[in-house]
Amino acid sequence: MTEFQLSGRTVLVTGASRGIGRAAALALARAGADVAGVARGTAGLEALGQEVEAMGRRFLALRADLLEPGAPERVAERAWAWRDRIDVLVNAAGVIVRSEVPEVTPEEWDLQFGLNVRAAFFLTQVLGRRMLEGGGSVVNVTSVAAEVATGAPTVYAASKAALVQVTRVLAVRWAPKVRVNAVGPSYIRTELNRAWLDDPGHRDWVLERTPLARIGVPEDVAGAIVFLASPAAGYVTGQHLLVDGGWTAQ
Ligand SMILES: NC(=O)c1ccc[n+]([C@@H]2O[C@H](COP(=O)([O-])OP(=O)(O)OC[C@H]3O[C@@H](n4cnc5c(N)ncnc54)[C@H](OP(=O)(O)O)[C@@H]3O)[C@@H](O)[C@H]2O)c1
Repeated sequence: MTEFQLSGRTVLVTGASRGIGRAAALALARAGADVAGVARGTAGLEALGQEVEAMGRRFLALRADLLEPGAPERVAERAWAWRDRIDVLVNAAGVIVRSEVPEVTPEEWDLQFGLNVRAAFFLTQVLGRRMLEGGGSVVNVTSVAAEVATGAPTVYAASKAALVQVTRVLAVRWAPKVRVNAVGPSYIRTELNRAWLDDPGHRDWVLERTPLARIGVPEDVAGAIVFLASPAAGYVTGQHLLVDGGWTAQ
């Protein structure tokens, strides 16, 4: 269907080496886009690059630690210089620390806000400045924990809520040139929470609260990201699309 096509577009996906970012990068490539992928590790990016190129799309590996000072800005500039454009930015890199009040340390706060909010914000700021000239779209990967209290730790939930509000405010500031949206997954089986979900008590707790009666997979989120990035969502901005198996419908 042409309304979901991204042929000729160039997308930048952070956290592309595994999990939701990797699934999003592949789905965006299947929709026709060339892909620049960001992560710290090389192996995951190399494997992703082979799959993207096997589809006949171009791939750029951008190795970077987005927590390093100036890294988001440098990544944005390198990505833009590749094809002289970025049409879609997907901020999927994220981290969770399973500490909880009253034991949270300032370092744990800084790590989660540093990657989940600060890095996404500055990457978006640099690319948004350029997108405002020719148009573009941003999709932030947030969490259902930004909207309701789940089993997710307080600081992680707060960092995702901050990113949701960045999404809403920028959507208004940058309309009509740049659309800014977010996808909020519930529990998706990835390395981020594999160990937590492997605990039968935790898994059952999630399943009891999930009308669709299964743990999500990265592809469940990738479809929503492609939708929000595509012309099909041309009249959608400032939204937080929850991909939660019905969790918040109850
Ligand atoms: N899984 C879930 O249930 C779930 C639910 C709600 C929201 N989310 C959100 O979805 C996003 C993706 O999560 P996921 O489950 O796919 O996690 P994941 O499997 O742990 O993947 C995280 C990605 O981020 C990259 N990354 C981590 N730290 C980085 C850094 N400092 N600089 C650059 N890249 C970094 C990782 O690559 P390297 O390690 O190679 O750098 C990896 O590609 C996150 O924002 C997460 O908060 C996940």
